[in-house]
Amino acid sequence: MRGMQQNLRTPGPTPIPAAVRDAQAQQMVDHRGPEFADLLRETSAGLAELIGTTGEILLLTGSGSGALEAAVVNTLSPGDRVLVVTIGSFGDRFAQIATAFGADVNRFEVEWGAAADPAALRDHLASHQPYRAVLITHNETSTGVANPLRELAAVVRQASGDPLLVVDGISGLGAMPFEMDGWGVDLVVSASQKAWMASPGIAIAAVGERARAAGERASMPRFYWDFAEARTWAEKGQTPWTPAISVLYGLRVGVQRLREEGRGRTWARHEAIATGVVAGIESLGLRPVAPTAHRSGTVTAAWLPDGLEWGPFNAAMRGKGLIVAGGQGKWTGKILRFGHMGDVGIDEMAEALAIMGGTLTEFGHPADGEAAAGAARAAYEAMAAGVR
Ligand SMILES: Cc1ncc(COP(=O)(O)O)c(C=O)c1O
Repeated sequence: MRGMQQNLRTPGPTPIPAAVRDAQAQQMVDHRGPEFADLLRETSAGLAELIGTTGEILLLTGSGSGALEAAVVNTLSPGDRVLVVTIGSFGDRFAQIATAFGADVNRFEVEWGAAADPAALRDHLASHQPYRAVLITHNETSTGVANPLRELAAVVRQASGDPLLVVDGISGLGAMPFEMDGWGVDLVVSASQKAWMASPGIAIAAVGERARAAGERASMPRFYWDFAEARTWAEKGQTPWTPAISVLYGLRVGVQRLREEGRGRTWARHEAIATGVVAGIESLGLRPVAPTAHRSGTVTAAWLPDGLEWGPFNAAMRGKGLIVAGGQGKWTGKILRFGHMGDVGIDEMAEALAIMGGTLTEFGHPADGEAAAGAARAAYEAMAAGVR
């Protein structure tokens, strides 16, 4: 956008650092040549480290939903009994994809705004026929709720029938604590435009040994997303199909930066920012959706005040350069969602909260934006001081 600097606070795509933008502007290389092989290998190795796995990373050209489809079709056969743990619209999407490819989909459905309860999932698994796989969203971007994935994974690992654990990590991976091998996750996917700080276009799949073995038996139809094909080519430092080379250039830099920062510090930074945003939102008089124990580290959802019409309110914020997201599906017009993943610092959050406060006031819901910005800074500093 010309003229005004936007404060892009959607939960992906996220603002990307100048170093990533520069990298993405580089000249093309042959995707069957040695430079590309280095790019693929270095990026994959960095991602494996950040995701906490010694297993393989497959980089596919597509968006996060493509990666969800790839995860399903490379592990399951039509008729397989699967359990989808859904706490919002992205959990529902996972179920839709599995249904579209003929899985026998059962739903462990949790009211939107809440997280899945490990004890309830344990009871469900103990009282139902074994499942071939359990599909779970780590961070539900539609509600700003994070599932207690470590605990849920432990429950799935103990379930009879030894189901595969397949995770949508799209909006949490890289920013929130995650230990693929340590927690027993068999397959997790993400996408370049989220915490990885690159443009949209590359889907990331981390595939553990059990998921890889399941792939040999899985008979759902697949061609473009076939992991066996991707694996064969990855071993040569290539992808089967023409990849989004520019996005990979950017992703390599995003991954390097996260490795330099260190996982623990990145996770703590996101947690401190999220805490600051929640303090600011509350100071504006808005009520966050997520219960304190299950707040997302990357997206904060808040209820819109009664009588505030989302369309005009959002248009007014946009007019001032603040871009946030609205609610999805049944929550359209009911909530706003504020993204804070990737290249985020407290200054952009404070600025966004100040704009939001001013706009709320214009719409007849008096709020002190500067006070909210101050509250966000104070809450952030109190937490960040402990990790610096
Ligand atoms: C948790 C989650 N799953 C899936 C998706 C879909 O990803 P994409 O829009 O890249 O297809 C998103 C994107 O916001 C997401 O946050």
